[in-house]
Amino acid sequence: MDHKFGGIWTRKKLEVLTKYLRFYSTALKKQKFTLHYADAFAGTGKHTVMDEHNEELLIPFEDFKGSVLTALEVEPGFHRYHFNDIEPLHVQELENIRNEYSGRDITITEQDANQFVPEFCARLKGRDRAVLLLDPYSTQLDWETLRYVADSGKVDLWLLFPLSVILRMTPRDGAKVRPEWRETLNRLLGTDDWETALYAPKAKPQIDDMFGGESSDPEMERLNTDELQRWVTARLRERFPFVAEPILLTNRGRPLFSFYFAVANPEPKAQALAKGVVSHIRQSIG
Ligand SMILES: C[S@@+](CC[C@H](N)C(=O)[O-])C[C@H]1O[C@@H](n2cnc3c(N)ncnc32)[C@H](O)[C@@H]1O
Repeated sequence: MDHKFGGIWTRKKLEVLTKYLRFYSTALKKQKFTLHYADAFAGTGKHTVMDEHNEELLIPFEDFKGSVLTALEVEPGFHRYHFNDIEPLHVQELENIRNEYSGRDITITEQDANQFVPEFCARLKGRDRAVLLLDPYSTQLDWETLRYVADSGKVDLWLLFPLSVILRMTPRDGAKVRPEWRETLNRLLGTDDWETALYAPKAKPQIDDMFGGESSDPEMERLNTDELQRWVTARLRERFPFVAEPILLTNRGRPLFSFYFAVANPEPKAQALAKGVVSHIRQSIG
């Protein structure tokens, strides 16, 4: 089936993922770990690139591999692969891929990612180590799910955080936040405190100050994109021992996703290694 999503930014995401998986599976395979790759929003393995008007783009891509095929083709590879998607047709495609890659140990599940992730993390024991990709379309991932990843102590996480969705749901003018979006924002951001954190009284022109006196009900204005991203990063850092500065994925200059890398392993040695490789990857993608 044709899975239409993504764009130029998808290519950057997969380039980063490929480089990290190659580093990880090479560095850790020499040690006595069982290495897992888990993809909680796995897709179909492939995709057709769309532009912002939902039209197919004729980009000269060398291929249209998604994260699943990308992970399967990385060498030396992982001991086990775990692919999950909620959409039955996507799961069917994943099963076809499992047949093609009969040499790989692949488990496929059809769950809500917010159920799959806690169950996957709970199964990691002893010398298990994992890379987990969380790549939702938009608002499907609950912030609460990240707690299980952080508490595992064994997972390196790559997370696409839907910055553009948050920006859309929190209009610059605080009076315009739609009441029906509040619950989604609470779930996405893991707090109902976001309004206090993301909005500040609008700076008044000096002339108003001279004549207007103190207003009892100042107009509220949302933080800008950089400030919002910094707030999300700080919240992730409350949970994870190490969180790299995010890679901003954009479309024609507009921010879409913050691509985060977070390490659950509390050992300073593991964090230092991850920090080094991620900074190297960031420089290599420009
Ligand atoms: C952006 S696509 C994933 C793309 C994939 N990582 C790739 O690079 O090829 C998001 C996927 O998440 C699936 N999905 C949507 N909601 C979900 C949920 N609550 N739990 C699990 N999967 C979900 C969709 O069916 C879709 O295949």
